[in-house]
Amino acid sequence: MFSDRTAWITPPSPLSVAIAARRALPGLIDLTAANPTEVDLPPLAPELVAALADPGVVRYDPDPAGPLAARAAVAAHYASLGHRVEPAHLRLAASTSEAYGWLFKLLCDPGDAVAVAHPSYPLLDDLARLEGVALVGVASTWHGRWELDLDALDAALTPRVRAIALVHPNNPSGAYVTLDLRDALVERCRRRGLALVVDEVFLEYPHRDDARRAPSFVGCDEVLTFTLSGLSKTLALPQMKLGWVHVGGPPAARDEALRRLEHVADSYLSVGAPVLRAAPAWLRHREALQRPVRERVAANLAALARAFAGESPVTLLPVEGGWSAVLRLPATRDDDDWVRALLDRGVLVSPGYFFDIPGDGYVVLSLLPRPDQFAEGVERLRGVVAEDGAVTPAR
Ligand SMILES: Cc1ncc(COP(=O)(O)O)c(C=O)c1O
Repeated sequence: MFSDRTAWITPPSPLSVAIAARRALPGLIDLTAANPTEVDLPPLAPELVAALADPGVVRYDPDPAGPLAARAAVAAHYASLGHRVEPAHLRLAASTSEAYGWLFKLLCDPGDAVAVAHPSYPLLDDLARLEGVALVGVASTWHGRWELDLDALDAALTPRVRAIALVHPNNPSGAYVTLDLRDALVERCRRRGLALVVDEVFLEYPHRDDARRAPSFVGCDEVLTFTLSGLSKTLALPQMKLGWVHVGGPPAARDEALRRLEHVADSYLSVGAPVLRAAPAWLRHREALQRPVRERVAANLAALARAFAGESPVTLLPVEGGWSAVLRLPATRDDDDWVRALLDRGVLVSPGYFFDIPGDGYVVLSLLPRPDQFAEGVERLRGVVAEDGAVTPAR
């Protein structure tokens, strides 16, 4: 009765069941909390909420590309970051996730594949499968930062692969794409006729500068390049449901992609008028909306670094940007075991394998929880690791 493309939707795993049961009890510190509207950050100011009640919202004026005023506001946002973007090269969607779905429809036939750099954001797999597309994970190896294994990438690029996807900076590792990696990817896409799909939702949350870092891929015009982002992370407004795709590349391929994407978008017309009307005002307040998130993430990251400084069985992997951090715990237990041991002490983290981090002992933390809760959660984690008696320093 049901489609093969949903056959992978299985009942919750034993770990998910255990987490749900613990959530039902009081006292859990949730170090996976990544919803900016639920971690005591300042709410959207009333005058910015009022932008949703623009008098123009009473009209339905469908535009599959997204209204020009909203696209111009996104282009102005990029201009404020130093990137020149044409509103004509943008398409608006209800979220970055929806935009991924459109790109898989645009680029892939059922059975085709997209190569993606691991570790990576787990929703990508689901989004691809829902379109009948396979994701081929390409391993990264740890050299003080995760570096994509280019030999593994070359081996993964079978004729069914239509695109290479990456997250810049990565969720959860926080690693930005370097200029060298950018060149290596562009070269492969050009040689093999592949598209690049680059998710930049965390681009504006760097923790430090780095001259080796690639800039936004909105400036990449050597190969067909789709750059995705949206309000959910850029302005910490996931509830508003607005994302976008910038299409860049050689003009013939770029214009054909834009034309086809417009048709895909026309089949849904999914973004609501109030959000489209309000987005320009919100984007103009970028600094004010990002600042509390930046401060929160920086404070929690500093607390984490202090907690595991010096000789410690726990290593905080260096984080370049984004809202999450990866801890390497002693490999005496696998990820699942660690998550369960921590859950028993009332602290919830994500297992590294959720994000295809290879090896045992990795857990992922959100950097968004309230600082007092974050500190208490990290203290509990320290206690569990200490009691575990593992004196083996993390590798
Ligand atoms: C890397 C990455 N891309 C995309 C998304 C989803 O963004 P949106 O809310 O715009 O669908 C997330 C959400 O956590 C994410 O981590």
